[in-house]
Amino acid sequence: MRVLGIESSCDETGIAIYDTEKGLLADVLYSQIGLHMEYGGVVPELASRDHVRKTLPLIKEALQLAGLKKADIDGIAYTAGPGLIGALLVGASIGRSLAWTWDIPAVAVHHMEGHLLAPMLEDDVPVFPFVALLVSGGHTMLVRVDGVGRYQLLGDTVDDAAGEAFDKTAKLLGLSYPGGPAISTLAEQGNPDRFRFPRPMTNRPGLDFSFSGLKTFAVNTLAENDNDEQTKADIALAFEVAVVETMAIKCRRVLEQTGLKRLVLAGGVSANRRLRQRLAELVQGYGAQLYYPRPEFCTDNGAMIAYTGSVRLQAGQTESLAIQAKARWPLAMLVPA
Ligand code: KG4
Ligand code: ZN
Repeated sequence: MRVLGIESSCDETGIAIYDTEKGLLADVLYSQIGLHMEYGGVVPELASRDHVRKTLPLIKEALQLAGLKKADIDGIAYTAGPGLIGALLVGASIGRSLAWTWDIPAVAVHHMEGHLLAPMLEDDVPVFPFVALLVSGGHTMLVRVDGVGRYQLLGDTVDDAAGEAFDKTAKLLGLSYPGGPAISTLAEQGNPDRFRFPRPMTNRPGLDFSFSGLKTFAVNTLAENDNDEQTKADIALAFEVAVVETMAIKCRRVLEQTGLKRLVLAGGVSANRRLRQRLAELVQGYGAQLYYPRPEFCTDNGAMIAYTGSVRLQAGQTESLAIQAKARWPLAMLVPA
């Protein structure tokens, strides 16, 4: 079965074609980062308008890259939430309508399930059950995964998402959007001995996260010191280390509590090198294994949507003609495939 995947939940238009026998046949991405950069964050209306312009040309490009015709596609998967509602509606409308025209089934995909299953696109795939740390611009979750659609939320953020904390802290350091990669790059010049940021919510039991205090800590540290480049690099490093250490502490807890030996790391923030290294060290101590996607499949992409859609379409799940998208959509509401 060949599935066309459409991702348009935020500031990336991602299109891919996944073949259930041959794997990924095409994967193209258009990033709107340049469009939103001058505003310091994503402007929803501009995002929707750009998805409208880019989606069909990218679908054509993906078909050409795969050497396929429209008639070779057996199903369409599109991100239907969570995300920016206008942006989601673009992908959902185009995806559902094309499927009707081409007389093939369509399926609505949950964006975070896409992230969660992105490691399945790699050679060494995690076997169920496993625990997943899902860290993106909008979410921070620890999930027990017993199968596709069999998710138990074990930990969540009580305020900012991990990526959001990176983006906000980057902004106050005068760095460009998106903040995650910018902070990481600046942190390389940082002095690890200068500042120590707190590890929020680690001195009490539980698997929830809180990141907004770290941003405030960064504001105060900047105000109390010379506003020079070295200070900013030292703050970037202290912030990044605090986020990574906090996540490592919660991952250690979740491995101990569940007794599971496989940890999946996914979502935009999972592209972070320090986080990958730290969690790789952690799992070693537990005789466990760490799985994460290649960097381009950590951040938003069409491949994870095409893959996830293929699993659900193969299970016979399809979407009606009443096009729907949801800005909010709890992961735990999904049904097994
Ligand atoms: O998954 P994603 O592409 O979009 C959402 O679903 O939100 O995640 C984007 C987030 C942004 O907040 C970005 O700053 C963060 O992922 N990010 C990173 C890195 N690359 C992207 N954060 C830390 N380190 C990185 N290398
Ligand atoms: Zn995402």
